[in-house]
Amino acid sequence: MALFPTHFVTVSVLGLVLAGGVSGQLSSTFYSSSCPTLESMVRLEMTQAINREARLGASILRLFFHDCFVNGCDGSILLDDTGTFVGEKNALPNQNSARGFEVIDSIKTRVEAACNGTVSCADILALASRDGAVLLGAQTWTVLLGRRDARTASQSDANNQIPAPTSSLSTLISMFSNKGLSARDMTALSGSHTIGQARCTVFRTRIYNDTNIDASFAATRRANCPSTGGDGNLAPLDVQTPTQFDNAYYQNLVAQRGLLHSDQELFNNGSQDALVRSYSQNNALFASDFVAAMIRMGNISPLTGTNGEIRRNCRRIN
Ligand code: HEM
Ligand SMILES: *[C@@H]1O[C@H](CO)[C@@H](O)[C@H](O)[C@H]1NC(C)=O
Ligand SMILES: *[C@@H]1O[C@H](CO)[C@@H](O)[C@H](O)[C@H]1NC(C)=O
Ligand SMILES: *[C@@H]1O[C@H](CO)[C@@H](O)[C@H](O)[C@H]1NC(C)=O
Repeated sequence: MALFPTHFVTVSVLGLVLAGGVSGQLSSTFYSSSCPTLESMVRLEMTQAINREARLGASILRLFFHDCFVNGCDGSILLDDTGTFVGEKNALPNQNSARGFEVIDSIKTRVEAACNGTVSCADILALASRDGAVLLGAQTWTVLLGRRDARTASQSDANNQIPAPTSSLSTLISMFSNKGLSARDMTALSGSHTIGQARCTVFRTRIYNDTNIDASFAATRRANCPSTGGDGNLAPLDVQTPTQFDNAYYQNLVAQRGLLHSDQELFNNGSQDALVRSYSQNNALFASDFVAAMIRMGNISPLTGTNGEIRRNCRRIN
């Protein structure tokens, strides 16, 4: 008689361990009966947004990164500050920088009208970031779903756990490692900088003071980023094809045309040089590593089951 309960307990514990493993309890079919039109609604809204402004695809991809790196992919970055709530939008990496929130709002409005109270903001962000990248040329992938929304946010974790553009290679590797991501994942995910823009304030020191930079590239960038003033002036992260999701970012690094100090750290006689060179020559290799790394990033500490909530409005907790 004693064997039965023991065996049962063993199986249950094993089940919990497996369910809590790397891919969490996320599933590609999570909403297939509760909200079957979810993916087409997200795709439609993202198509409209990108037709208005291609950069929005980049901005939303970055929101997903900044969401996942701060206590998991739980929609915490979407919460507005209020008189009594400190969110992540005014953390240093996000302030005057994180953008695209209105696109998430309009997706959420459409999704709520069709599937009231069913789909989390965290999952909407995961789908929208995939669609943004794909609409700009990335290879597609299946997004795992079933994340729930946080009822908390952490400005200090956003300040401390999102890497800065001044980071060294060893800092980048360790900050990704802290999230369970490898150096290879880090280098592949940095390929997101094949789209989007950066402000003068984050690349000024690089274009005036770094020595591992192509001279004519530096001169071009200095023309719109003075040594003082013009902090918000924008430049494309990828000098070649700024709205196309391709491997030109890595070609730029090989040519010492990385815009951010942290970008060029990936090709500066260090451990990632060979991989950067491979990606620069082999778009298919980059594309498949990028997809694998995005799925791993999307699996960082999701809230599942009855944890968290399904927010009605992505900007505030219920
Ligand atoms: C490896 C460490 C990383 C650092 C230090 C970094 C830093 C930055 C900085 C400083 C900007 C410009 C922000 C501004 O001036 O307003 C930026 C933009 C961007 N980042 Fe990263 N990033 C990193 C990794 C990533 C990852 C992993 C992703 C996505 C998976 C990503 C996606 C983007 C995108 C798409 C933009 C352009 C956003 C826009 O145009 O609105 N970055 N990043
Ligand atoms: C959605 O559900 C909530 C309760 O969960 C209800 O208060 C609200 O009126 C519903 N909205 C729509 C558009 O049906
Ligand atoms: C470049 O380095 C010099 C000497 O350290 C410093 O005074 C100056 O502020 C730096 N310039 C920029 C734009 O970071
Ligand atoms: C990398 O090393 C080579 C050979 O030692 C050297 O010529 C080159 O300047 C170095 N590049 C950087 C960016 O340090």
